[in-house]
Amino acid sequence: MRIIIEENYEDMSRTAASIVKDYVSNHPACVLGCATGTTPIGMYQGLVEAHREGKLDFSETRFFNLDEYCGLDPSNDQSYTYFMKEHLFDHINVRPEHIHLPDGMAGDIEAACRRYDAEIERSGGIDLQVVGIGINGHIGFNEPGDCFYPDTHKIALHESTIRANARFFSSIEDVPTEAITMGIRPILQSKMLLFLANGESKIDAVYGALRGPISPRLPASILQLHPNVVAVIDRSAAKRL
Ligand code: PGA
Repeated sequence: MRIIIEENYEDMSRTAASIVKDYVSNHPACVLGCATGTTPIGMYQGLVEAHREGKLDFSETRFFNLDEYCGLDPSNDQSYTYFMKEHLFDHINVRPEHIHLPDGMAGDIEAACRRYDAEIERSGGIDLQVVGIGINGHIGFNEPGDCFYPDTHKIALHESTIRANARFFSSIEDVPTEAITMGIRPILQSKMLLFLANGESKIDAVYGALRGPISPRLPASILQLHPNVVAVIDRSAAKRL
């Protein structure tokens, strides 16, 4: 695992964007695994800027997101579909058929999960996967629990996740309580994994992920088994490393 500690959020974002830029420039038809949340926003801005400057072409790149809330229409400004459009897809030359997110509005969620895994498999798997980390150590919405789930699945969000995400909604009651998340398998099978974390609230989660025992109690700790991780972390989140 390569660990890069940056001074602040801006530097973390710049470095992360340049890693993704290099990857996409060298492999234009790659499959990018995308994360949402506040962590990768600066990185996406960097990618949008590179595209605007004519330095980055996404016409062949395919995108798979880690997760989506259940019960939020894609037009809802808190859905992850909306987030991805707002921060990346609406500003780059991605082909609509190359955008994939789990279908949180599906009548049959189980079937939607199986469809998502099949789409990932048909694409040949994820090449570069970007992940953030929750304060409870989740990756995507793989929440702490008794076991790791390999496949895409529906998950009841933990109280701490609902509380952490309440800042985006008008009240905590509006935060969805369930989501669909990619499982651990495609994340671990990605060719390269870009792990991002910033801010003091992530200190313990980052320490557990990179240095702690590998345990489903802190799902991000499984990344220690990935053969090609680049972790870009700002100084405040890296304090215990
Ligand atoms: P954040 O969320 O980037 O908004 O901190 C990360 C996560 O929950 O995975």
